[in-house]
Amino acid sequence: MTPEQFVAGLPKAELHMHIEGSIEPDLFLRLARRNDVAIRWDSEDALRAAYHFEDLQDFLDLYYDGCRVLVQACDFHDVTYAYLARAHADRVTHAEMFLGPQGHTSRGVPLATVMEGVLAAMAAAQTDLGITSGLIVVAQRHRSQDEALALLEALQPWYDRLLGFGLGGAEVGNPPSKFAEFFRRCRDRGFKAVAHAGEEGPAAYVREAVELLQVQRLDHGNACLDDPDLVGMLAQRRIPLTVCPLSNLKLRVVSSMSRHPLKQLMDAGLCVTVNSDDPSFFGGYVNENYLACQRALGLGLDELAGLARNSFEAAFIPAGQRQSSLASIDAWLAQARGAQACT
Ligand code: ADE
Ligand code: ZN
Repeated sequence: MTPEQFVAGLPKAELHMHIEGSIEPDLFLRLARRNDVAIRWDSEDALRAAYHFEDLQDFLDLYYDGCRVLVQACDFHDVTYAYLARAHADRVTHAEMFLGPQGHTSRGVPLATVMEGVLAAMAAAQTDLGITSGLIVVAQRHRSQDEALALLEALQPWYDRLLGFGLGGAEVGNPPSKFAEFFRRCRDRGFKAVAHAGEEGPAAYVREAVELLQVQRLDHGNACLDDPDLVGMLAQRRIPLTVCPLSNLKLRVVSSMSRHPLKQLMDAGLCVTVNSDDPSFFGGYVNENYLACQRALGLGLDELAGLARNSFEAAFIPAGQRQSSLASIDAWLAQARGAQACT
């Protein structure tokens, strides 16, 4: 069995992707036409050619501008369903997705339009495909904490269908400490807490996310390697990292895949997971991320299976689903080993 075949059939959870970052060029053009939104590009190739970024902010400028094509509930439905169907094809059995409502409500799109479109697609994908999913609302960190608090209040009608809250957007200059009260209230209301930290920002931001925001998972977290004591604490407390290798390459967090710190993070004993972040912009869905690491870092089948195991350990799912998902990984690994023994 080739690594490609192994990864294709490996059951996995995806825990770090932004719904708005999964609009494929063909859907993007269709939505722009559907809503009569003027855009700078007239073809899929022209769009793809624009996907070259200097850094996170350069990407975010294009990403927020692209959100203008999302206007009606059916638009939010279509992009969410398309992602879940694509993830299902990568043998993702459970996905936890980020949504940034402030990027839509600030343009005058009602919150109900955003939420109802996304939530309906999640329910439909579970019925049609069997994929389970959860929704994590991210506050934009370049905005104020008061705006994040207003978002938390406005989301009350959907609390029973929300998994948790997170923090995304421009990291440097917007430390986790800016949102300490927001996260305290999210936790008080029983929500899971995650935050992007240590993508472009320093190890000190990763520490703040853990100590001040008390997050249960770190999104990216790469920079923790600069602080050995912090690494020890993350390993000891089993605080997972949702690492996004192709994103790190495209946003120049790393200069090449062979220099990606994934293996170092794994070897430090951390609960590392592999994810796609914004797959339509960064050149690959979750399986492409596994394979890019496998090729550049020489990961074996056990290590790939370990990453998938971590994804279910880190997922916010019931114990029964975790157990059955881990068992399905073991079964697939045994099948792959049997196939190898015969060749
Ligand atoms: N929003 C979408 N993609 C992001 C990333 N890679 N970092 C921070 N915020 C984001
Ligand atoms: Zn992200």
